[in-house]
Amino acid sequence: MLFTELIRKKRDAKELNEADIQFFVDGLVNPDVPAEQISSFAMAVVLNSMTFAETAFLTRAMARSGEMLNWEDQQLPGPVVDKHSTGGVGDKVSFLLAPIAAAVGCCVPMISGRGLGHSGGTLDKISAIPGYEMFPDLPLFRKVVKEVGCAIIGQTSSLAPADRRFYAIRDITATVESIPLITASILSKKIAAGNDALVMDIKCGNGAFMGSLKDAQKLSRSIIATGAQSGLKVHALITDMNEVLGNTAGNALEIQESVDFLSNTHRDVRLDEVVVALVVEMLLACGLSFDAIEARQKVEAAIVSGAAHEKFAQMLVALGGPADFMERSASYLPKANVSLPVPCDRDGWLSGVDTRAVGNAIIELGGGRKQLNESLDLSVGLSGVLPIGSPLTKGQALCVIHAQNTATAESVRTNIRRAISIGDKAPANRATILERLTE
Ligand code: URA
Repeated sequence: MLFTELIRKKRDAKELNEADIQFFVDGLVNPDVPAEQISSFAMAVVLNSMTFAETAFLTRAMARSGEMLNWEDQQLPGPVVDKHSTGGVGDKVSFLLAPIAAAVGCCVPMISGRGLGHSGGTLDKISAIPGYEMFPDLPLFRKVVKEVGCAIIGQTSSLAPADRRFYAIRDITATVESIPLITASILSKKIAAGNDALVMDIKCGNGAFMGSLKDAQKLSRSIIATGAQSGLKVHALITDMNEVLGNTAGNALEIQESVDFLSNTHRDVRLDEVVVALVVEMLLACGLSFDAIEARQKVEAAIVSGAAHEKFAQMLVALGGPADFMERSASYLPKANVSLPVPCDRDGWLSGVDTRAVGNAIIELGGGRKQLNESLDLSVGLSGVLPIGSPLTKGQALCVIHAQNTATAESVRTNIRRAISIGDKAPANRATILERLTE
């Protein structure tokens, strides 16, 4: 078959069969197939979409393009289950969810990524912990998952290499926004990682890639149905991303907030709601619980007793981090030179946030990438971020900017102030968990 014929077939909106899709995936791992052909094919899919059958073929073929992890010979103490978020601003859920899930009996081999566009990445955030090995070899990764119950690491080149190349090409050719392609990309990695079940956190709102509830529902249904065709049980929660999740945004600052959460020093209400709901879904999806109320009690006990805190500390040590990190995190995490409050210019109520603009402000500070492979300043970002609905008095800080110098802090302060709306009345209460979807 000629690659051009494959592109033509999708360009003309014809349905591809399994052999066509396997041919395409073989091309993804063959450097002789040029990026131009792959991106033309991707654009044809963006414009003409794919059926569920085509999406399932693509998912399975990309999962099989490299190593497939098999946990059966490990005699793990619990089912293998993971969570994936579609990305947002201030999303530190993984650092809380993985140790909580481990503390309630799940095994969580969490393979995570770097920041994408305005949204932060789990891998960038965890790189703020000195000594933490983000790319352990496979035997160490397996050992930590077995002995601790969770390991958060970066994507290895051996898992789903077809997706790795395809994603890099899509990222620079405006072809990320396709529900079949996003579905296959996410699921191929989760299937290759040997998961029994997956919980999706589909973010929805002005700081998410899925702006509307309709698109978030469409993506959820696609991932659930495609997962089912490949033997992966998927539950999805659609969660609000119309403001920063928690009180911080920025790599090291989010790690500090996670430590405070696990230490029961400070649990932000919305963050708490999302984390607890997702771990409850993990327990239900993998069959460790059959009742949401009982699952919620287990999750709460794991946080309050310090069991989740202990799991996080064990994971850090097993992957090379400091043994006293949880007690002395502030002395290990990088700190910015300047901190500048963003004052409120009148009395009122915090009524809305342009969350994408806040994510872009973190990039301006140097905490996110403008270009591929750019190195980050892990110390910068925002702390003390007030939630929507906060009553405000003139002069009160809406948040505090952490920057390397005063000039950058002042320029970002203007953008942050513009991104926050202040109204005369308390805004209506909004739900944090918008919808739950299962098979
Ligand atoms: N995250 C992924 O892993 N793949 C996509 O295509 C989009 C988000």
